[in-house]
Amino acid sequence: MHVGTGSSFLEQLSAITEGWDGSIERRYCHLSNVSALLNQYLEKINWVGFYLMREDRTALVLGPFQGKVACTDISLDRGVCGLAARSKQSVRVDDVHTFPGHIACDSASRSELVVPLINKNGDVLGVLDVDSAQRGRFAEDDQHLLERAAKIISQALWT
Ligand code: SME
Repeated sequence: MHVGTGSSFLEQLSAITEGWDGSIERRYCHLSNVSALLNQYLEKINWVGFYLMREDRTALVLGPFQGKVACTDISLDRGVCGLAARSKQSVRVDDVHTFPGHIACDSASRSELVVPLINKNGDVLGVLDVDSAQRGRFAEDDQHLLERAAKIISQALWT
């Protein structure tokens, strides 16, 4: 795993997602801090951030992130993000060059992990997307940690 200590990361995550007052700006405020925290903890990554479900539920729209300028709208039938949102499952890609339909926002990206954010009704709220310039950067334990993180984020911001 390429992360500090998982438990301290999750504790900090819980702390910085407290106090959502129901407003969209407060949700963006917390997600911005979460992207900063993830960027601080995860090693060897070149992009981390959120894509949130568009109101018409046909595409994802760029949310708070850390990294290079990225594509703004991702149709649900496209990319690693679209697949994760559509299937409601995490998608871990060791080499994005072998993933048909991968959307290359940064040509340096080589591996990717996308975890869906799902509310208590089972609706997809968006996805958490992490990219790395290193091939095979993400292991099963990274996936498990980020799935736990996604659960905390979804519960804190959309309850
Ligand atoms: N690679 C993603 C698009 C988002 S960027 O990586 C920031 C995809 O294929 O869905």
